[in-house]
Amino acid sequence: MRRFRRLRATPAMRKMVRETRLSAADMIYPIFVEEGEGLTAPVESMPTVYRYSIDRLEEILPQIAESGIAGLLIFGVPKHKDEFATEAYCDEGVTQQAIRYIKKNYPELIVIADVCLCEYTNHGHCGVICGEKILNDETLPLLSKMAVSMAKAGADIIAPSDMMDGRVAAIRAALDENGYIDVPIMSYSAKFASGYYSPFRDAADSAPSFGDRKTYQMDPANRREALREIADDIEEGADMVMVKPALPYLDILREARDMTDLPLAAYNVSGEFSMVKAAAKLGWIDEKRIVMENMTAIKRAGADIIITYHALDAAKWLREDD
Ligand code: PBG
Ligand code: ZN
Repeated sequence: MRRFRRLRATPAMRKMVRETRLSAADMIYPIFVEEGEGLTAPVESMPTVYRYSIDRLEEILPQIAESGIAGLLIFGVPKHKDEFATEAYCDEGVTQQAIRYIKKNYPELIVIADVCLCEYTNHGHCGVICGEKILNDETLPLLSKMAVSMAKAGADIIAPSDMMDGRVAAIRAALDENGYIDVPIMSYSAKFASGYYSPFRDAADSAPSFGDRKTYQMDPANRREALREIADDIEEGADMVMVKPALPYLDILREARDMTDLPLAAYNVSGEFSMVKAAAKLGWIDEKRIVMENMTAIKRAGADIIITYHALDAAKWLREDD
């Protein structure tokens, strides 16, 4: 008889034959930086997540630096929002200031700048609008300016999350023209129009004021199109690609893994996080077990890098278990 149980008999044996290992070194923690002073504002739908003003970042940065995680993905929440997302590409904007602060005080942390207009527009869409139409080509120069401004502030990686067509090529060209030839692009390539983003929209104050994002983000039903989006971003010059959300799209992650040799990131988004937190709070699940199982599933499906609000907890649990 084939006895599979021989290799499951002890913790040591299971550890030796384990196919997928988690590591804090490939996790990224998203943070929200709000313009203002003295702010540590809890995000109600995301327990343990806060919006920090720059002067309060010391409440979280030392923990991130000590945790062994790779770095952070930064989202700015400006006071002033307008039709053209001016604050997104203003060198003195809150996000740019936060990046400068972090790189000055924690140079070893990788800072990834999310590039999208929705936190900066008064209508909450990811591009410029005409009436109720979200314009593609008119948005590209603004995203390019934003990317250059983030690179100038010191961002290590530019991560466009807007889902306009052609943005990777446009951003690459703008970065190169401005001398940022060495700043890589991590593209949110297969980003689905997902119900799992709603806690984030509270956190980043970026919910669209009309309509939805379905004319630019992908239809959750489409697998082949996701692979075309990824292939296209690679052709346009992406250095890394991403699938988002993570857990409901593990099939896409696996196929992306089989299709490209580039580093592949998975974004375990706000709604995925909040569901775990809510069930744990009710005592219905064991949070640590569920988080570690979820992280393992994402890696097993093929992700190299996991962007997750669980990163600090996961890093702590990995240290405890070692
Ligand atoms: C901005 C952006 C969003 C997320 C990351 N960047 C929101 C959206 O597209 O509506 C979602 C992240 C999350 O839910 O954790 N375009
Ligand atoms: Zn957006």
